[in-house]
Amino acid sequence: MKYAVIGTSWITEEFIMGANLVEGMELLGVYSRSYSKGKALAEKFGAPRVFVDLHDLARNADVEAVYVASPNSLHYEQCKLLLKSGKHVLCEKPITVEPEELAELQALAAEQGKVYMEAIMYMHNPVRPKLKASMQALGNITSAHFDFSQLSSKYPAYKNGENPNIFNPEFATGSLMDLGIYCIYPALDLFGMPKSIWSTATFLESGADGNGTAVFKYDNMLLTLTWSKLAQGFCGSEITGDGGSVTIDSISQLNGIKFCRKGGEPVEVVGETEKHVIMSYEAKAWLDFATKPEETAEQYQDASRMALAVSTVMKKIREVSGIKFKNR
Ligand SMILES: NC(=O)c1ccc[n+]([C@@H]2O[C@H](COP(=O)([O-])OP(=O)(O)OC[C@H]3O[C@@H](n4cnc5c(N)ncnc54)[C@H](OP(=O)(O)O)[C@@H]3O)[C@@H](O)[C@H]2O)c1
Repeated sequence: MKYAVIGTSWITEEFIMGANLVEGMELLGVYSRSYSKGKALAEKFGAPRVFVDLHDLARNADVEAVYVASPNSLHYEQCKLLLKSGKHVLCEKPITVEPEELAELQALAAEQGKVYMEAIMYMHNPVRPKLKASMQALGNITSAHFDFSQLSSKYPAYKNGENPNIFNPEFATGSLMDLGIYCIYPALDLFGMPKSIWSTATFLESGADGNGTAVFKYDNMLLTLTWSKLAQGFCGSEITGDGGSVTIDSISQLNGIKFCRKGGEPVEVVGETEKHVIMSYEAKAWLDFATKPEETAEQYQDASRMALAVSTVMKKIREVSGIKFKNR
């Protein structure tokens, strides 16, 4: 599948490295607002085309698919243009800001017969079934805690008076949209929709949420979620029952999963995999959804339903915790 990318930051490079591991994926072009940045990335990965006009990219008949890694607030309009132009679209998380926008574009993609999916490592990671299997030994699960606290490389710049996109509410960014989403995916996948959601956040002067927490209440279980861009966490995540505990070092990548019983030694369930390799799984899913739609219909529908459920819960958390974006 001949694809192009939107965005020239490190995450696009990780994705291209991942897609390079997938037979059948071919990088055809790079879109950037700056020709020199686009050309540098295209040359680095051997892509023949550079686009500086999004409409030129959308009109280009050779481009079958586009990976979108622009700031969050641009996802909806860019994906809409690309879907209308007949491209398969893989869009970085969060796929849209509002669940209503997501539902609209999912319908548009279905009309166009094109794939529209969220680039989220969790859903396409082949170790997800191993995590679920390890939970079978936990007995009665009564609590779980998911954490993604990662000190932002942009935080020093913010503190120095700069205005990086990630802490600028104009771009619908902040810690929930950037990191909290990685806790919400496994929450809904492993435990379903909670009965109730409580949430709160702290805010930077820019108005962006710097960190946040949520409590998801289920019939017989409490799930707490924490996320932060202002500090590095090392404790990871844990699911606990009367039969033991599963710990997860990285909830976003599902790396470092261990099972432990009271009085026993931890047993490794899943080790470490490099990020670009994990991203290759979503690139492979994208290719398969686009080229083998009948074989992969169920997996595609699951991913689409989950994306919408996560987006709906994210909106609820924003309402409860008071997260607001500018110009919306
Ligand atoms: N999957 C993951 O692990 C992961 C990790 C990081 C980020 N992400 C997601 O990837 C997306 C991009 O995140 P990022 O941190 O890379 O964002 P970013 O650096 O703020 O922007 C990404 C790219 O968008 C373009 N851009 C920046 N500001 C823009 C503006 N004002 N108007 C139009 N285009 C602009 C830039 O490309 P040009 O200058 O070349 O046009 C830039 O390289 C987000 O949705 C984020 O959630 C995912």
